[in-house]
Amino acid sequence: MIYGERIRLRASERDDLILFNAWLNDPEVRDNLLLYLPLSLAEEEHWFESMLQLPPPEHVLVIEIRQGEVWKSIGNCGFNHIDWRCRSGEIGIFIGDKSLWNQGYGTETTRLLLRHGFKTLNLNRICLRVYETNLGGIRAYEKASFVHEGRFRQAEYRNGSYIDVLLMSVLQSEYRE
Ligand SMILES: CC(C)(COP(=O)(O)OP(=O)(O)OC[C@H]1O[C@@H](n2cnc3c(N)ncnc32)[C@H](O)[C@@H]1OP(=O)(O)O)[C@@H](O)C(=O)NCCC(=O)NCCS
Repeated sequence: MIYGERIRLRASERDDLILFNAWLNDPEVRDNLLLYLPLSLAEEEHWFESMLQLPPPEHVLVIEIRQGEVWKSIGNCGFNHIDWRCRSGEIGIFIGDKSLWNQGYGTETTRLLLRHGFKTLNLNRICLRVYETNLGGIRAYEKASFVHEGRFRQAEYRNGSYIDVLLMSVLQSEYRE
């Protein structure tokens, strides 16, 4: 487990896939991710098996919040494209339970991934990509100290329009817990 103030991150299990599948088939969640097609459980299972073949630091982590005595899964997150020579990696996050958006969990998850990336994985650079239309995501990443680094113009096509993809990052030298 990786513990934050209100959340914890745990390893994902096959049993989580039904929940992941329900979240990722919600257009409001999916529209801000790389996905753009309905996702079957079989595809989700295939993704899970492929994910297990990746190096352990790139395995997906489940975001949980405490509700009384139990921990409730609310989304997932993790690192990908880790380059161990350059010590850089990219993060991805989603809170699948929409009723919990705008309550600071995205920001806290981002901060926890930064701590994990810099203090455990010993990365030097952590970046992410976010659609220009994802104002809540951009705000959460800014609050977690990500800085704007660049813009891939019209790199994505959503809902009939080309949109820019923003690149944001934090360097280890800039990182403050
Ligand atoms: C993006 C996401 C992770 C953010 O998580 P979250 O828990 O809602 O984020 P937080 O509550 O920590 O921060 C959101 C901030 O954006 C603000 N915000 C939300 N919608 C906004 C809008 N339309 N315009 C401006 N600010 C907005 C919130 O008010 C909040 O800021 P505040 O705390 O200063 O008030 C979550 O919304 C999500 O999973 N969305 C679907 C998938 C996704 O977008 N993943 C990220 C892909 S890069």
